[in-house]
Amino acid sequence: MFTPDQVQALNSRLGIQSTEEILAWAWETFGEKAGIGTSFQGAGLVMMHIARNRGFKFPIFTLNTGLLFPETLALKSRLEDFLGCQIESLEPDLTVEQQAAVQGPELWKRDPDLCCTMRKVLPLQSKLSELDCWITGLRREQSSTRSDIGVIEIYAFDTTSGRDIIKLNPMANWSKEQVWEYIREHKIPYNPLHDRGFRSIGCAPCTSKSADGKGERAGRWIGFNKAECGIHTFMARKA
Ligand code: ADX
Ligand code: SF4
Repeated sequence: MFTPDQVQALNSRLGIQSTEEILAWAWETFGEKAGIGTSFQGAGLVMMHIARNRGFKFPIFTLNTGLLFPETLALKSRLEDFLGCQIESLEPDLTVEQQAAVQGPELWKRDPDLCCTMRKVLPLQSKLSELDCWITGLRREQSSTRSDIGVIEIYAFDTTSGRDIIKLNPMANWSKEQVWEYIREHKIPYNPLHDRGFRSIGCAPCTSKSADGKGERAGRWIGFNKAECGIHTFMARKA
């Protein structure tokens, strides 16, 4: 594993490279111990396409909260055909019904942080325990909470064992326009909800349409002071 100083040096190098070059580095360095996590949004689609085209067979996974839009689930199958690979579905311990029995119905309306922890963060944590590198589709332009992300970062994964994990954001420098130009050019299947006024698409109960001109992630958790589901904030960043 790398030290925070090494990660900083790598960030200076990888930070000016193309997504293809960054993914090539990850494939050489980690092989299948690097995994792509996707919510099937624009940047993730581009990144998976670049990786598959170059023969980088990173495992791909998605957090299936049980509350995704039917359009999102249908897209998963279309992408598996298009990319010629399986996408692992990570499920929470409790079904939505079991969670309602334990926590009361519609937890997302009362305590979305707890709901996200149970349905996203814990399943992700379990997956990351098998990996050395987590590859995401985060972009700096997406929101103020993401403007300072590195192309490569290192996080404390398990404070008891001292185990760290690398997080790679090979799409960090892409603009929304570049992403959609690439998707159109390569005819990549995408979520039809984008054409119906949805910008950022997550779980159905916590995603609304957002008017043009608002931030890219407007429309998520409306009515709550919440901008992140927790998967990008639960670990402490070391560099
Ligand atoms: S989120 O934190 O609000 O869900 P967003 O939808 O913008 O984030 O996605 C940012 C990145 O987080 C994605 O490119 C992906 O790497 C990761 N991510 C978000 N949601 C999921 C999910 N359901 N499954 C796997 N990875 C996800
Ligand atoms: Fe629950 Fe909403 Fe978080 Fe999905 S986005 S896990 S429904 S709080």
